[in-house]
Amino acid sequence: MPVALITGGGKGLGACIARHLVSEGYKVVIADIDGAQAQETADEIGDQAIAITLDVSSESAVEEALDVVEQRCGLPWLLVNNAAIMKAEKLLEISMGSFDSIVSVNLRGTFLVSQRFARRLRAADKSGRIVNIGSLAGQNGGTATGAHYAASKGAVHTLTKVFARDLAPHGITVNAIAPGPLDLPSVAETIGAENAKRAFASLPTGEPGRPETVARMVAEMARPDAGAMTGSIIDINSGLYMR
Ligand SMILES: NC(=O)c1ccc[n+]([C@@H]2O[C@H](COP(=O)([O-])OP(=O)(O)OC[C@H]3O[C@@H](n4cnc5c(N)ncnc54)[C@H](O)[C@@H]3O)[C@@H](O)[C@H]2O)c1
Repeated sequence: MPVALITGGGKGLGACIARHLVSEGYKVVIADIDGAQAQETADEIGDQAIAITLDVSSESAVEEALDVVEQRCGLPWLLVNNAAIMKAEKLLEISMGSFDSIVSVNLRGTFLVSQRFARRLRAADKSGRIVNIGSLAGQNGGTATGAHYAASKGAVHTLTKVFARDLAPHGITVNAIAPGPLDLPSVAETIGAENAKRAFASLPTGEPGRPETVARMVAEMARPDAGAMTGSIIDINSGLYMR
């Protein structure tokens, strides 16, 4: 049974990805800074899910978490870098504390977990899959989220390409998904309920992205026979931006 490690899997998109991967025959490790939330989601999913508490921005915590995962389920086949902080703050009002906290989870966390996972795959001479959750904001600057968030996600797209290039000879693929607004509570939590309603109503397709669409794309990217798909950034953005 393949194992998937999903960062930020306690709720929202990460929890949806975890549920979908279990339906596809995976065992999932839900790794979230909110350990209680991760446990709740794992309990809800059942036997095929375990929860661990993890701050993706901490080097020692990432190494310890990977040790625990390896001991409990073996080295995962799939890593989904989904943990992120989203904030809507005006450019001129962003404090350096806020900037650093977002970059440290969204960018540093994605780099750190990916690098340490890839090191372990290489040491074991194994292939694997990495899927990064990027964002439309990382491509076009976004509409409502702040410069820190948009820049961190743009960097996640760049990391996707660099990791894909360097790991291609080793059977490790690295892809990203760049969602626009998704039908999730986090949108209203980030930009306010009224703004979220307006944003959803003005989407070209008339509907926000479904988390399930993203989850199915993760599973597709992770297929063992999808080895030629690497370095791709797939848009699911309701027609807001076409490259
Ligand atoms: N919601 C959207 O419309 C949307 C759009 C584009 C991209 N995304 C991306 O999708 C992903 C999931 O977003 P969501 O809407 O489910 O958000 P969410 O806030 O509901 O979930 C994020 C999860 O990440 C966890 N987390 C935060 N900091 C962490 C850390 N340091 N270490 C480990 N876990 C941490 C949180 O506890 C939470 O469970 C993010 O990468 C986000 O940028 C979301």
